[in-house]
Amino acid sequence: MRSIAVDGPSGAGKSTVGHALAVRIDATFVDTGLMYRALTLAALDRDVDLDDALRLGRLAEECVIEVEKPSPDQRDRLETVRLGGRDVTTDVRTPRVDRAVSAVSRHAAVRDAMLGVQRAVAMRGDVVMVGRDIGTVVLPDATLKVFLTADPEVRAARRAAEMGRPDRVDEYLAEIRRRDAADSGRDVAPLRMAAGALILDTGELDVEACVDAIVSRLEELDA
Ligand code: DC
Repeated sequence: MRSIAVDGPSGAGKSTVGHALAVRIDATFVDTGLMYRALTLAALDRDVDLDDALRLGRLAEECVIEVEKPSPDQRDRLETVRLGGRDVTTDVRTPRVDRAVSAVSRHAAVRDAMLGVQRAVAMRGDVVMVGRDIGTVVLPDATLKVFLTADPEVRAARRAAEMGRPDRVDEYLAEIRRRDAADSGRDVAPLRMAAGALILDTGELDVEACVDAIVSRLEELDA
């Protein structure tokens, strides 16, 4: 069974590259960011204090969060995320969730609850799992660890183009910088490059080139 851990900062292209890789090598794709986003939505809907580690940890254990393959007609997404059976794929990408997700995901109790679910998925078959702490914490024995990165300016420009809002590039840049600082600066499972990770800069390489580089490395490991 193979597991490929893909980590990196917000907007580095982890989902796009990870999904393309999963298709190429016929593995299950799991975007762990969606899980933290679904939990954040649950917390906001219930007015849970985002500093209340105990309540958030309990909520993480109680909530049923499922990440699954979309049906063939759902072309607007790479994965569907459900919260208690409800499709929340669109709701988890709102600015309201963007602003709160770092605060929710910094608590140890929350991360502990997520860890079990994420490791269980990797036990079921070949997996490409993307996030912030996959190579360092969730799957420390992954077959291959990849760290995707790009300059904040490159990530912001890409996000603005995706959203069709080139006029808002400065806002996206500020949000990316804020999230980079929060994700890298937290005490528990901060964003770090795993030892031995294959580092790819998505400002220089397109999706195809990244997937090619990862597949070549996998082939070297198999040889
Ligand atoms: O990848 P994303 O932007 O959808 O992730 C949303 C947030 O979730 C991100 O700011 C940090 C958190 N996250 C995390 O702490 N650990 C992960 N493995 C994945 C995401």
